[in-house]
Order: sequence, then C-alpha cells, then structure tokens
Amino acid sequence: MTLLGRIGERLRRPQGVPWRSAGLRTESLSADESVRSTGWVFDNKTKDVSLESFTSGGENEVRRYLKLFGYTNDETRDLSMVEIGSGIGRMTASFSKRFRLVYAADVDAAFLERCRETVFHHGEPNALRTLHVADGRTLDIESQSVDFAFSYITLQHCSGEDALSLVTEALRVTKSGGRIALNFRTWTALDAALVPLGGIVRVLWRTPKAAKYMARIRSLTRLGWQANRLSPDDVLASVGLDLIGTRLRDVTIIHSSRRRVATSADGVRKVSVRRVHPSHWWLVARLA
Ligand SMILES: C[S@@+](CC[C@H](N)C(=O)[O-])C[C@H]1O[C@@H](n2cnc3c(N)ncnc32)[C@H](O)[C@@H]1O
Repeated sequence: MTLLGRIGERLRRPQGVPWRSAGLRTESLSADESVRSTGWVFDNKTKDVSLESFTSGGENEVRRYLKLFGYTNDETRDLSMVEIGSGIGRMTASFSKRFRLVYAADVDAAFLERCRETVFHHGEPNALRTLHVADGRTLDIESQSVDFAFSYITLQHCSGEDALSLVTEALRVTKSGGRIALNFRTWTALDAALVPLGGIVRVLWRTPKAAKYMARIRSLTRLGWQANRLSPDDVLASVGLDLIGTRLRDVTIIHSSRRRVATSADGVRKVSVRRVHPSHWWLVARLA
C-alpha cells in the first residue's frame, strides 16, 4: 500500500490502527515470541504465556464452543469453515485439527503469517488457508462454500458497519445446511466511559509515532479496540427479520447467565450459559 493509501486507510478505519500496530510488532518475531511479548493482545494474559499455553487455552475454548453450537465429536471432520478474526491462531490450531479445511481470515497480514506458524507447530497445516480481509469488511471466498462461519472477540473491534458487513458475508459464504456462530459485545455500564475514551485513543493513533509507542501499552491498546457495541436487534435487523425461520433456522442468542440480553425479534430462542463472558453474546443459526 502506498503512503497516501495508508494515511487514507488510517482516517477511514482508525479502529484498524491498533491491530496493524500490534501486527507490525509481530512481523519480526516468531509466533512464540509474539505471544510472550504481546500475549495480552489476544488473551488478556501478561505473564507465563507461551505459544503452547496460548493454543491449549484455544483448544479448550474450541472444544467447549463446538459442543455449545451443537456439533458432536468427529462431526466436523469432513467440514470446512471460516474463522473471521483468527489473529495469530490461538483457536485456529485447534480448528485445523477438527475440520477438513479452515480459512483463517484477518485484517492484519502479519497476524496471518504468525497464524501459519502457530498451526504448523500446534495444528494441522494441510487444513489451513489464510485470507487477508484487506478492506476490513469482505471475505474473498465463493458464496456457499463453507459449512461453518465462526467469529470470536472480533466483531466488537471493527466499526459497526464493517461488523454488520462481515455478518452478511458470513451468511453469504455459508452453505445451505451450514451453521454460523458469531460473537458480539453488548453495552455495559462501563462502556459509558470505555467507548468515548476508545474514540480519543483512536484519534491519537492516527499519528504513526504515537501509534508505535501506544501499541506497546496494554491499557491504551485495549481502550483503542473498543470500537462498537451491537445488540441482537441491531444485528438481526441488519440481516433482515424476514430471514428468521425462513433462510435462518434455529436462530439462537446465547448469552451469559450473569446478564440478560433482550431481543424483540420473533422466533429467536435465548439460551443462557454460565461460562459466556457477561458482556458477550452469540448469534447461532443454521442456514436452510
Ligand atoms: C482479540 S483478537 C481475537 C483473535 C481470535 N479470534 C482469538 O479469540 O484468539 C481480534 C482479531 O480480530 C482481527 N480483526 C479486527 N478487525 C477485523 C476486521 N475488520 N476483519 C477481520 N479481522 C479483524 C484483529 O486483527 C485480531 O486478530
């Protein structure tokens, strides 16, 4: 990308800057060094992390979530999937051992390089394809080509518009009979402070020198990521309420048992689960 192109992208998508700055840091590091020096970027951990502990955390979550989404053991062996926002492969390594084909999709190309390395060491490299989401909103995969579209702790980090575009893309690329499981973050009281502060941090992030410095500071990076909050009604309205029960079957909102998540849409099941993060919710559905 030219310098002008990079500046234009920073102005259009300031929420992408913290990721690119973090990605830049991982460019000259191995995946293990990336985790040890910036493990908090993906895992909220600062101490005693290695690529191995990082992927074993991902393995536990993948096992738990696939069960929650209704997959039984071995059922995924012949299936393909896309993981939107794979990062450096914390969960991708596990997916690659369970699915025939995994597209790891991320806005940052350096993360995808590290993701390849992570899967080489801890997953099944033959199952992996990487996909650069260069514009932050579209997936360069054929329509109806995967059995499962998954995204975790990513759609909250894009602009609301990009997140909704990625939801539409997830529906487009998933085959009939396939499933989607997309994770979002809803409003909490703390957001009254977090969201505006995040906006201020992203303005500062537009200056390359400041961005380089800020990418090393955990609290600033995490603030800068707070890009959007979407409710189930926001997402379902954007998808099209008429699709519920027609193109989208078994539409389920999975949320934490510690927080109620409301929806006014008809035909949507709500399931509360203890181990879902209180500010997260999942849209899970099957395509007719
Ligand atoms: C918190 S990390 C989560 C990574 C992984 N899902 C996990 O749980 O370990 C969020 C990831 O989303 C990616 N991301 C942010 N905005 C994106 C976008 N618009 N399209 C694709 N990926 C995006 C970031 O680069 C980052 O790798």
